[in-house]
Amino acid sequence: MSKIPGSVVDDCRIISIERHPHRQGTLTVAQNSGTLPFDLRRIYYIYDIPANSERGGHAHIEQESLVMAVGGSFDVTVSDGGKTKKFTLNRPYEGLYIPAGIWRHIDNFSSGSIVLVLASTDFSEDDYIRNFEDFVTAKAQK
Ligand code: TYD
Repeated sequence: MSKIPGSVVDDCRIISIERHPHRQGTLTVAQNSGTLPFDLRRIYYIYDIPANSERGGHAHIEQESLVMAVGGSFDVTVSDGGKTKKFTLNRPYEGLYIPAGIWRHIDNFSSGSIVLVLASTDFSEDDYIRNFEDFVTAKAQK
């Protein structure tokens, strides 16, 4: 866990994704060249989310992410072990960039919301820190 990066909450930022509006619907595209601050390796999405659910509750050691509300809305709270910041996501053409080494907690889901995550790495449980106290301790050692 000593490998955790010394990233801070202020490194998190909203990124606007390329939009192609049309009378019959809008198309949005994310691609490695230009849009994303990392090379895309994997996507996953979360749906059928019951009311009052809480997701996230972890940090990654290597994985960078772009978290998007492609349907509905929800709040993403990020922490670097010191500072905390809450972002409300509700536009399918915007994503929250979360660098490695940042704690994330997602809640306040609207009905029918869909969380799309663009990720920089393959899935590995070894890349997770799932205990907040361990996370704070690791960040304090940076
Ligand atoms: P997790 O990342 O904890 O979800 P969230 O951050 O949204 O709360 O993942 C939930 C479960 O799904 C966990 O058992 C690991 C598994 N999982 C995979 O098998 N592959 C994946 O790519 C992801 C993201 C999760």
